[in-house]
Amino acid sequence: MNETLRVIAERYSCRDYKNEMPSDELLQAIAKAAVQAPSGMNRQAWRVIVVKDKTLMQDMESEAMSYLANMEDKTSYNRIMERGGRLFYGAPCMIVVPIDPAALIDCGILCQNIVLAAASLGIANVMCGFTGLAFAGGVRAAEFSRRLGFPEGYVFGCSVLLGYANTIKPPHVPDEGKITFVG
Ligand SMILES: Cc1cc2nc3c(=O)[nH]c(=O)nc-3n(C[C@H](O)[C@H](O)[C@H](O)COP(=O)(O)O)c2cc1C
Repeated sequence: MNETLRVIAERYSCRDYKNEMPSDELLQAIAKAAVQAPSGMNRQAWRVIVVKDKTLMQDMESEAMSYLANMEDKTSYNRIMERGGRLFYGAPCMIVVPIDPAALIDCGILCQNIVLAAASLGIANVMCGFTGLAFAGGVRAAEFSRRLGFPEGYVFGCSVLLGYANTIKPPHVPDEGKITFVG
């Protein structure tokens, strides 16, 4: 197995972080890997926003949590409460990816670069779609877009939490039954 396949095989979603900030050097390397991702027609209709501002993260987390708490279907809210009630799991920083609304697939590919680059550097991570609830039309959606510096017309695409693992988890067992060869 080569180094790339090893990182892919060992990556896992971390949901318990130490209160320790990765260095700017590491964050820059991860952000650079993000913008090296392929995109349709090489449009690169994305931004990579590294968020180290604790207050901003807390504000987004509490806005998204109250959005979840007020949803009729309590499944997701209960799931987060069972995991300790913290949408960001104590992560010290995150990358938020705003995108052109037509570039959702590109956003996914970019985030995959982030998680693999982070994993390869020993930085624990988890993609966090729930951050989008802070942008889901609540009163503070426009405020967060402004504070993060979203370009005009861009929307929240996804985010990735980053930090050092407090609890290490084994990767999920890949289901090779989902693979078929034709011919
Ligand atoms: C688009 C996307 C959004 C996700 N959003 C969340 C999230 O908001 N919170 C979370 O804890 N995990 C989130 N995840 C992580 C998945 O739950 C995780 O990848 C899955 O359970 C498989 O586990 P693994 O990453 O450890 O292999 C997200 C994953 C993807 C691809």
